[in-house]
Amino acid sequence: MAYRVLGRAGPPQPRRARRLLFAFTLSLSCTYLCYSLLCCCDDLGQSRLLGAPRCLRGPGAGGQKLLQESRPCDPSGPTPGEPGAPSASAAGAPSPRLSGSNHSGSPKLGTKRLPQALIVGVKKGGTRAVLEFIRVHPDVRALGTEPHFFDRNYGRGLDWYRSLMPRTLESQITLEKTPSYFVTQEAPRRIFNMSRDTKLIVVVRNPVTRAISDYTQTLSKKPDIPTFEGLSFRNRTLGLVDVSWNAIRIGMYALHLESWLRYFPLAQIHFVSGERLITDPAGEMGRVQDFLGIKRLITDKHFYFNKTKGFPCLKKTESSLLPRCLGKSKGRTHVQIDPEVIDQLREFYRPYNIKFYETVGQDFRWE
Ligand code: A3P
Repeated sequence: MAYRVLGRAGPPQPRRARRLLFAFTLSLSCTYLCYSLLCCCDDLGQSRLLGAPRCLRGPGAGGQKLLQESRPCDPSGPTPGEPGAPSASAAGAPSPRLSGSNHSGSPKLGTKRLPQALIVGVKKGGTRAVLEFIRVHPDVRALGTEPHFFDRNYGRGLDWYRSLMPRTLESQITLEKTPSYFVTQEAPRRIFNMSRDTKLIVVVRNPVTRAISDYTQTLSKKPDIPTFEGLSFRNRTLGLVDVSWNAIRIGMYALHLESWLRYFPLAQIHFVSGERLITDPAGEMGRVQDFLGIKRLITDKHFYFNKTKGFPCLKKTESSLLPRCLGKSKGRTHVQIDPEVIDQLREFYRPYNIKFYETVGQDFRWE
């Protein structure tokens, strides 16, 4: 009777039972096969991530080892065409990953995060140099271009801002630089509202030299502008400096700093000396790394002085076959300025400089 339930009436049919058993096993196998394929695909995705050369997550990794890491370790370096890609004009050649970390065409690892650190100024202080040097560090991922979020693009919202950022692993710091933030009234409040923990870096330079550098840059784009002397003074005989001219105003560091200190404690702002950045890049970058709380991996081994350029450049490494100097727009020959005008401006800046030294507790020796 029992057999009847299974099939037609009749005696047990071992062959038929075997066939049934075979069909049952086959369907089970198919199900298993499909399931495995699905899982396997997932696994492949995973193993592509896991099987890639392991990225160094923490500052504990040794510098030498970092130099040997291969590019796939890098989760999200901005590549040309991406919003964060350094443009030839803005950033010169692509950043060399001396420590084998950042740029890659590798799968999208990591997450786009809002920056935890910002280079907020100052224009012509040496901000590009700091950005290019610090992004060599495997624990730092930086946007190559200037997003101008906290001044010009604030209306686009934080999601837009975040979308520009390179992907980072949890251990990595996201960084961007926009030098105009330092002189933007609303920037401190806006940055504070994004995160009160944001670390701020300001690269400062003798304000007179900075103004001349700024002017030289503008002149290279607009050759018809008035002379530096003409723009600097409202009345030169009376020594009345035109503080409404941006090139002058930016250098009044003490004034701008006040707005930042309303929102951020001094300990959260790191000042890089634009002068020492040229004479001792490793020393300055050592302090930047300390400030960011990352291991000092960028050392004097990473720099050499390029006599033709007249500036320190990044050395070639295993991951970048060429040594790398900043682009032509960085380190230009300045226009000649009447030494008397320079003296007048030096006098003008003196009280601002002194106030600035007192506030930050550092003497930058600009006098
Ligand atoms: P000059 O072109 O007037 O010499 P920023 O990147 O903020 O615009 O600053 C540009 C300045 O960075 C340059 O101004 C240059 O003096 C300075 N700088 C500092 N380190 C440099 C480096 N290693 N290579 C080129 N320029 C550097």
